[in-house]
Amino acid sequence: MSEPRKILVTSALPYANGSIHLGHMLEYIQTDMWVRFQKHRGNQCIYVCADDAHGSAIMLRAEKEGITPEQLIANVQAEHSADFAEFLVDFDNFHSTHAEENRELSSQIYLKLRDAGHIATRSITQYFDPEKKMFLADRFIKGTCPKCGTEDQYGDNCEKCGATYAPTDLKDPKSAISGATPVLKDSQHFFFKLPDFQEMLQAWTRSGTLQEAVANKIAEWLDAGLQQWDISRDAPYFGFEIPDEPGKYFYVWLDAPIGYMASFKNLCNRTPELDFDAFWGKDSTAELYHFIGKDIVNFHALFWPAMLEGAGFRKPTGINVHGYLTVNGQKMSKSRGTFIKARTYLDHLSPEYLRYYYAAKLSRGVDDLDLNLEDFVQKVNSDLVGKVVNIASRCAGFIHKGNAGVLVAGNAAPELTEAFLAAAPSIAEAYEARDFARAMREIMGLADRANAWIADKAPWSLNKQEGKQDEVQAICALGINLFRQLVIFLKPVLPLLAADAEAFLNVAPLTWNDHATLLSNHQLNEFKPLMTRIDPVKVQAMTDASKEDLTASQTDTGEAAAPQGNGELTKDPLSPEIEFDTFAAVDLRVALILKAEAVEGADKLLRLTLDIGDEQRNVLSGIKSAYPDPAKLEGRLTMMIANLKPRKMKFGVSEGMVMAAGPGGEEIYLLSPDSGAKPGQRIK
Ligand code: 2FM
Ligand code: ZN
Repeated sequence: MSEPRKILVTSALPYANGSIHLGHMLEYIQTDMWVRFQKHRGNQCIYVCADDAHGSAIMLRAEKEGITPEQLIANVQAEHSADFAEFLVDFDNFHSTHAEENRELSSQIYLKLRDAGHIATRSITQYFDPEKKMFLADRFIKGTCPKCGTEDQYGDNCEKCGATYAPTDLKDPKSAISGATPVLKDSQHFFFKLPDFQEMLQAWTRSGTLQEAVANKIAEWLDAGLQQWDISRDAPYFGFEIPDEPGKYFYVWLDAPIGYMASFKNLCNRTPELDFDAFWGKDSTAELYHFIGKDIVNFHALFWPAMLEGAGFRKPTGINVHGYLTVNGQKMSKSRGTFIKARTYLDHLSPEYLRYYYAAKLSRGVDDLDLNLEDFVQKVNSDLVGKVVNIASRCAGFIHKGNAGVLVAGNAAPELTEAFLAAAPSIAEAYEARDFARAMREIMGLADRANAWIADKAPWSLNKQEGKQDEVQAICALGINLFRQLVIFLKPVLPLLAADAEAFLNVAPLTWNDHATLLSNHQLNEFKPLMTRIDPVKVQAMTDASKEDLTASQTDTGEAAAPQGNGELTKDPLSPEIEFDTFAAVDLRVALILKAEAVEGADKLLRLTLDIGDEQRNVLSGIKSAYPDPAKLEGRLTMMIANLKPRKMKFGVSEGMVMAAGPGGEEIYLLSPDSGAKPGQRIK
């Protein structure tokens, strides 16, 4: 037996300002299946991840929600952890980049780079928002395209004509945060001297660390010559201050990959037998793999190995890059209901359906993967329910009725068990190479053979004949053994099915090597259905709910609140002009708040019971942060939109919307009519 391998694996760190969706899950499920496969084989394999918690987007979103960035990232981390756990993504540690281990490692790496001469400084000129007193990243500047004159374009490219330009080329630039006209301002920035590592990167990216298509892309960048990388941002910024440089912060992408190390460090601090240096030290013999999407290859295959090299750490063994997820052949779309959040999926369907479908379609290339929802139903039902689970359900009854649940000894079809045994190395090789699709094809090929053999033997017919009972028991015992082999091969993909099968088979948790043995003279436990077919109605309900998520989440995050212009901005990009008829179609009414209460489990919502004259309405409103004592609202008049289509939200149906203004947090102001107004009166 060869020595177990030591392997450390990561998936890209999700940003801590949004929900996990099925596009994200493609990466986490893929990584988890590979990690589970390694553990199943007896290797030491550690899977770490973290939330990517820094940057101005997170700072601004927290401000908008009226909470601290720390509160925001804690809320999101709880949500992300629950989503991953329910999708059976089994991290050994899920940490945060906003953590002490990461601050220390980021400082340490920066200081090593600085002291070795790999950091340069120079002044750069950028747009600055004079109201918010902050420098503006390109996406926070809007203006008129210098090429085609289209208004409201972002600072680096025009969505209309496709032109790319510098923000300073935009006509009539405005800060997308405050609406103020930005001014140009100089500031000192810190740069990582990436060109110092050109030769090392040329060799490293061609040393088997990357898929060929990725290595070719990188070669183009290397041939074009590397640029220094700007790693600093000015205050205000949510991140780590650069050592010895007050008011200067590490750019989020500097400390994000260091978050991989920090998460592992945090785990080591709690696990005495784990040694940080054995995995990250220059002479480490452990393997290190990063699973990422193709959009972040430059950070992982250029900047990151250069940082590690410059700071005296080992470099990754491999960067495993995957393509994007499409749904029904197109980019995920909110209006089509195909922008599906992890939670929405879990509300309707079992995680193992998706894990299997992804496995069946994932190979080692960087091509996009299409989740075709019809094919998804068909494939899962046909393969898992129709082929794999079917073997157990066909055989279990005869064994329980005919032999008190005991598998007889013997082997009714040695050629079949030989074929299963012979297939194992090739299936393992496919898993190892991340060619999950090939592994699944080979496993289903075996399932087909097992089913065909059972159908040919037809124990259900034999069972009706005199003196054939021993034969029935021999056939079904082998059927159950073949089912057990399939479960062993599928366990990295379907851990829940495997756990249920282990309970039925009355065996300890199965490992890969168990495929070489058969159960004989063995008592089974009661058989319970192991997996049910996907009902297409549930898939439809999931896409319907995904369309609803869109409106619900806007209310939840306060994103629908009045925009914060400075009054001078003539046109607010979020509120295009409307015709009078559109306005007139809105049924605005005076409403009396009869009851106001917090919604259990919701951070931001109040449930309001409103009297609008001829009827009562229940409205869910994201105003809790401003009204911590909701009972005080009872008896007060407000304004509501009474003909808004009822919206099914996570916490119930909301039958309209009350009107409030303000930036969010404690500053939300419910509108009220003058005294004397009566519930139900309409705006004229
Ligand atoms: O692209 C992203 O979603 C980033 N949050 C990934 C970071 S991966 C790593 F470098 F931290
Ligand atoms: Zn343009």
